[in-house]
Amino acid sequence: MRTLISNGTVISSDGGIAADVLVSGERIEAVIAPESDLALGLRSSADVVHVDAAGRYVVPGGIDVHTHMELPFGGTYASDTFETGTRAAAWGGTTTIIDFAVQRTGEDVRASLDEWFAKAEGRCAIDYGFHMILGGIDETCLKEMDSLVAEGITSFKLFMAYPGVLYSDDGAILRAMQQAHDNGALIMMHAENGIAIDVLASEAAARGQIAPVYHGVTRPSRLEGEATYRAIQLAVVAGAPVYFVHLSASEALAHVAAARNEGLNVFAETCPQYLYLNLEDHLGAPGFEGAGYVCSPPLRSKHESHHADLWQGLRTNDLSIVSTDHCPFCMKEQKELGLEDFRLIPNGLGLVEHRMDLIHQGVVAGEISLERWVETCSTTPARMFGLYPRKGAIAPGSDADIVIYDPSAKTRISAQTHHMNLDYSALEGWVLDGAVETVFSRGRAVIYGGAYHGSPGDGEYLKRGLSQCLI
Ligand code: URP
Ligand code: ZN
Ligand code: ZN
Repeated sequence: MRTLISNGTVISSDGGIAADVLVSGERIEAVIAPESDLALGLRSSADVVHVDAAGRYVVPGGIDVHTHMELPFGGTYASDTFETGTRAAAWGGTTTIIDFAVQRTGEDVRASLDEWFAKAEGRCAIDYGFHMILGGIDETCLKEMDSLVAEGITSFKLFMAYPGVLYSDDGAILRAMQQAHDNGALIMMHAENGIAIDVLASEAAARGQIAPVYHGVTRPSRLEGEATYRAIQLAVVAGAPVYFVHLSASEALAHVAAARNEGLNVFAETCPQYLYLNLEDHLGAPGFEGAGYVCSPPLRSKHESHHADLWQGLRTNDLSIVSTDHCPFCMKEQKELGLEDFRLIPNGLGLVEHRMDLIHQGVVAGEISLERWVETCSTTPARMFGLYPRKGAIAPGSDADIVIYDPSAKTRISAQTHHMNLDYSALEGWVLDGAVETVFSRGRAVIYGGAYHGSPGDGEYLKRGLSQCLI
């Protein structure tokens, strides 16, 4: 059976056009001029399901390249499983995630990856791939990188933060980057100077400063800037590309922009929390409420220019992608682990369901164009992580991952109504302009009529190619 999505405006990273989209099985068969004989014939054909998208945008399904379903962290696990988290993603117009498998220090890379495959297999509502976190770089692990690349895991995250847990020192980082130079992988960097942060955090705790806000106070933006600069130098020495995850600070962005101006293969993503939330009002909320906003890097001060600079970075492409770093922990029994000490609050926010709406709100506010919305949330993620043009495009032959988006509807955010397995919302009560109406995942309508129509296991594992963004 074929489906024709007609009368909508197809938005791509090049612009918007009035076009009908013909879906056949799991793929897009054609993008057709709406008044053409072909379109008119298909609209009246009894063999074609007709979906009217008048007044709607028709956009490629969102790709969230930074999620942590079921991540073990601080003695607990991120509260979304692959089943609940990918279903929530679908509700929000995201049809692909790339999650992080984790090799902890001392563990075998292969065994760790197999653990993540087992967690995801048969459970996902949408397609998924993996990056690999390397938390213990040694000779065996470096060799494993090559075999993983050959198997479609072409990006590796390293941490300059979290000493004793996932931290890599400069030598280890350089070795991994050298290996990436040889095998074509992309190194993804969590850039915060964790050694210095641990000193500041211990000092604060010793002074009795244990409230959630001190998580942010002890992770100053300069220490993200410093680590970002250092990682860029290491990447240049190794001759490898580097991609900064969850960039939050003006200082870090300035180093990325300077490197890009030099023509280096340096890339960065930011996340909605760093565009909308801040240290004083959210992390510094009364009582223990701020725990719901603890993530690393932390939310930055509203008295500095981070928000404006990050929106600017999205306009100039110094920030090429918006991901969520979806890593939800419930307030009850999870965030509460840090009631007596901010250092014990599990780090992370749950936003996988809201990314497309939040960045569309940036269009409404005049921060970015509609084309840039699609580019940062779908097309560049596909290209950066070796999935284009199968994903990230509305074009003949691409997977029929399609979102019909109603710009005149409203999205009301609340823990009572969201679909993430999370007992609070960092955006409780927010009302956004625009709403996801219908979502196709590989040709199957999984969200329509205000309901979910998919099942666990609809999503397939994606073997990825090398990054298609390198110059
Ligand atoms: O707070 C965060 N970001 N939690 C997830 C782990 C990470 O560093 O991405
Ligand atoms: Zn990180
Ligand atoms: Zn993360």
